[in-house]
Amino acid sequence: MCGIVGVLGLHEAAPMLVDALKRLEYRGYDSAGIATVRDGKLERRRATGKMVNLSDMLVHNSLAGKSGIGHTRWATHGEPNLTNTHPHRAGAVAVVHNGIIENFRELRAELADLGVSFETDTDTETVALLTNHFISQGLSPRDAVAATLPKLDGAFALCFLFEGEDDLMIAARKGSPLAIGHGVGEMFVGSDAIALAAMTDQITYLEEGDWAVLTRNSLEVIDAAGNLANRELKKIEIDTAAIDKAGHKHFMAKEIAEQPTVLANVLGHYINKENNGLALPEGLDFSEFDRLVLVACGTGFYACMTAKYWFEQISGLPVEIDIASEYRYRKPPVGPRTCAIFVSQSGETADTLAALRHIADKAAKIVAVVNVPESSIARESDIIIPIRAGVEVGVASTKAFTNQLAVLACMALKAAQDRAVIDADELKNNLVTLRNLPGLINLAIAAESHYTPIAKRLAAADDVLFLGRGLMYPMALEGALKLKEISYIHAEGYAAGELKHGPIALVDKKTPVVVMAPRDALFEKTISNMQEVMARNGVVLLITDSAGAKSANDGVWGTLLMPDVDPVWAPILYAIPAQLLAYHTAMARGTDVDQPRNLAKSVTVE
Ligand code: AGP
Repeated sequence: MCGIVGVLGLHEAAPMLVDALKRLEYRGYDSAGIATVRDGKLERRRATGKMVNLSDMLVHNSLAGKSGIGHTRWATHGEPNLTNTHPHRAGAVAVVHNGIIENFRELRAELADLGVSFETDTDTETVALLTNHFISQGLSPRDAVAATLPKLDGAFALCFLFEGEDDLMIAARKGSPLAIGHGVGEMFVGSDAIALAAMTDQITYLEEGDWAVLTRNSLEVIDAAGNLANRELKKIEIDTAAIDKAGHKHFMAKEIAEQPTVLANVLGHYINKENNGLALPEGLDFSEFDRLVLVACGTGFYACMTAKYWFEQISGLPVEIDIASEYRYRKPPVGPRTCAIFVSQSGETADTLAALRHIADKAAKIVAVVNVPESSIARESDIIIPIRAGVEVGVASTKAFTNQLAVLACMALKAAQDRAVIDADELKNNLVTLRNLPGLINLAIAAESHYTPIAKRLAAADDVLFLGRGLMYPMALEGALKLKEISYIHAEGYAAGELKHGPIALVDKKTPVVVMAPRDALFEKTISNMQEVMARNGVVLLITDSAGAKSANDGVWGTLLMPDVDPVWAPILYAIPAQLLAYHTAMARGTDVDQPRNLAKSVTVE
C-alpha cells in the first residue's frame, strides 16, 4: 500500500507532488521520491523516511519541471533504503508503483537473459526495465507500455514518465485504485481523490485493467480488452479542511473527538427523525436472505464480530463472519439466499476486495459498508452504505469504527423489521437509544483526563490483556489491537471465560488486565473471571458503569467509569475507552500515533 501521484502541470510540479504525497502518507511512509521531466531531461530526487525528509532535500536541492511523478512507500519488496525508493528509473523510463508484481522474479530472469542488470531489490524496477527494453527496441513509450502491461501478474497502479517527453504521462490500473484528475490545461494522476484535492475536484476513476495515456489536454483510456473506453467524469466533494488536525496534536485525537458529530451525522442520515423509522439505501430487503456473511480486516472485522451478535439476537438471521485474508481460501459455501456484507473504511483493502470478488457471482446481494463511496469495494458491490465518517487520516481507525458499528446496528434493526420479528415500538425505542449515543460518547470523551495516569502505568508494561464477554468480547479484541498498533506494546484480547483455559498462565503482577464490563447480563460471570485474575496477583483495570463499579471494583488497580447505556448498543460507547487508552499510552511511550511503524492506513496489497 503505497501512494502514487502524477502531474502534467502549467506550473512547477515538485510543490504539487509534495503536497499530494503528504496527503497520501497515510498509505505508507517508509520512503518517498519524485521525478520530473524538464526540457526532455528526466531527473529524480528521493529520500528515506517520511515526506519531511524529501521536502527538506528539495529545499536544498530543488527539482524543476512541470511534468512529474511521485511516490510514498510502504515496503513490500526490498528494505526501505534509498536504492529501493521510488520512482524507479531505467534509461528513458521512470515509474512509480502501488501494489505487487507477483511474477517479478521470472521477469528479472528474462531481463537478465537479455543482459539487463539490476540496481534494486524491488519488483517495480522490472517494470521500468521492461518498458525501457521495448523503447530501446524502437517502440514508442505508449507501445512500450502496451507491451509491458500484459507481462505483469499481480496488482498494480502505475504512473510513467519518459525522457524527452514533456507532455506525456501513462498510467495503468490492475487491482490497485487509480484516479485521473482533470485540470484546466493540466492533468493529474493519484492513488485516490484525496491526493488530488488541492488540484481538482473533477475526477475519472480508472476501472480494473484500464490504462491511460495523458497529455495536458487529452486523456485516452484503453480498457482491459484493448478498446478505447469512456470513463465517467465525476465532481468529487472533498473537504480539504478535513485534511488537517484542527488544532489537535494528532489526527487520531481529532478523529476521536469528532465521533459525537460524525456519529450523529450517520445516525441522522439513516434514521428518519420524523417517524423514527429506518432510511437505509433502497434494495436491501433482509426477508430475501437466509444467511449473512460479514467479511473485513482488522478493526473492521471487530465491527463484524459485534454485528453478528446484533443480527442474530435481534433479527434471528444466522451470521457467518471471517477475516478477509482467510475467507476465500476455505472455499466457504455460499447459498443463493446469502447476503455478503463487506466492511472497509478505505474500500480499497486488497484482502477484502479479493474476498468480495470470490463470491460476487454466488451471493444474492453484495453490500459495501465503506467510508469511501467511490472506492473499489463500493464500485463492485450491489448496494453501497456509506458510513459518512469524513476523511480518516490516523492509521488507527476510530471514528470510522464507531460509524461502522452504527450502520451495522441500523442494518440489524432493518433485518428484524424486514423479517417481522420486531414491533414498531421496540424498533422506535432502539432507534431513539441509538440517536442518544453521540451524547454519551461526548460524556465518555469528556473524562479523557482520567486516562493519563492509567496510560503511564500501561506504558511501562511489556504485555497487556483485554477481557470481555458477549458483546464486549469484540471490544476486548479491538482494545488490544488499538493498543498494540500505536504503542507497540504486546496486547491480546480474550473472551473473559476463555482465560482459564490457558492464557491465565500469563497473569502476574507485571501484566495489566483490562476488563471491559458494563453491568449487563454477563457482568457477574465477567467479574468472576476478573477475580480469578486478581487471585493470581493480576492487576486489573475495570471499565464499567456506575452500577458495575459499585458492585465490583474492590481490589482493582483502577476503574474507568462509563455512562450508563443500553447493553445491546454498549460496544459503540465502549470503543471510546479502547481508543483513549491506546492514544494516551502511545503518547506516554512517545510513539508516532498517526503513522505507527510498519503500518499504513490502506492495505492495498494481499
Ligand atoms: C485499524 O485500526 C487498523 N489500522 C487496521 O486493522 C484496519 O482496520 C484494517 O487494515 C482494515 O482497513 P479498512 O477498514 O480500510 O479495510
